[in-house]
Amino acid sequence: MKVYDHIVIGGGVIGCSIAYRLAEAGLRVAVFDAGRAGQASMAAGGMLGAQNEFERENPLLEIALESRAMFPQLRDELLYSTGIDIELRTAGLIKTAATEQEWSELRQQYQFLTDKDPSIQWLEPEEVPEVEPCMTSQTAGAIFLEKDHQVKAPLLAEAFLKAAMNAGVHVYEETKALRLLIQQNRVLGIDTSIGSFHATQVTMAAGAWSSHLLADTIFSLPVIPVKGECLSIRLAGPAPVKTVFAVDGCYIVPKRNKEMLIGATSIPGSFDTSVTAGGILSLLQRASRLLPVLSDGIIHRTWAGVRPQAADHLPVMGSHPFIDSLHICTGHYRNGILLSPITGILMKKYITGCQETHKLLAPFAPARFSGSCAANIHECLN
Ligand code: GLY
Repeated sequence: MKVYDHIVIGGGVIGCSIAYRLAEAGLRVAVFDAGRAGQASMAAGGMLGAQNEFERENPLLEIALESRAMFPQLRDELLYSTGIDIELRTAGLIKTAATEQEWSELRQQYQFLTDKDPSIQWLEPEEVPEVEPCMTSQTAGAIFLEKDHQVKAPLLAEAFLKAAMNAGVHVYEETKALRLLIQQNRVLGIDTSIGSFHATQVTMAAGAWSSHLLADTIFSLPVIPVKGECLSIRLAGPAPVKTVFAVDGCYIVPKRNKEMLIGATSIPGSFDTSVTAGGILSLLQRASRLLPVLSDGIIHRTWAGVRPQAADHLPVMGSHPFIDSLHICTGHYRNGILLSPITGILMKKYITGCQETHKLLAPFAPARFSGSCAANIHECLN
């Protein structure tokens, strides 16, 4: 039987980022993924929307800003270690309002963000095409977030995986974790489709699938899947360079070679990754209103992915409330790509006992959801 210092369940950007940093710190680490590592992460748009995604105070904001700032160095580090360029594009993001109601929501967000960062610009309708010539002035108003950049999510997922492997991590793809091995309230390893593996510590980082195995631990983790459908279009003529994001949630992310990634629908509760005609139709209608040039494009690809969303929409990062040496890291919802660099570093510090990190991650502790389980435990003990 193989023995590791640490097993990570889930080979997406979060799992691989954690595994990479733990291996760098000298631990013997294994990653298990039920399918192809990084599949869910690869579906993402790749926006680093550390400002776009926050409209009011949120314990995640500071972490999101720090994580966004890590990307230029991460790009260089991953390129050096793996030869993979994550295609960090630094043209910023325009968030646009279509109606009076959206205008007032956007205005509030602008006020909240600009108090912290005066570089954020409010754009009147006629100023919008000056900043992004492919947009029209048919908008109620917009903000320009010049630091909300983007990367190509499949390349980031591949690069984290390869960097982890280069650092010595053993990656088991197509290997389903079937059961956590637990004795006297302590995790000892996992049973998988190819046998048992022991480890001193285990981290559950399987995105929306994380709750399944934890169900055996009298802890019901309220993380649900939220399906998102996307498509990409190739343009031949003029193409935008800035990410365009509508207050209603539709976005266009310009990738290399004039490939426009258009996302995303939001369907809570669904693990199904089929793409519906209605989903694509609604994205195309909304996206072409924002950027009329899209109508000339050739549809290249459609796909769907699954975001892990916790009941309070915050990530879940920290120790299992009842089982020793078992950690949980999921629930990054719309921000998995953005948060992947800092999550690996913080979880490494947390796992290796850094008390400061324990304090920093307190708002994200899995124990915040254990209240509803207390009754179950009593029931079990009685
Ligand atoms: N980060 C964008 C999305 O989840 O659709």
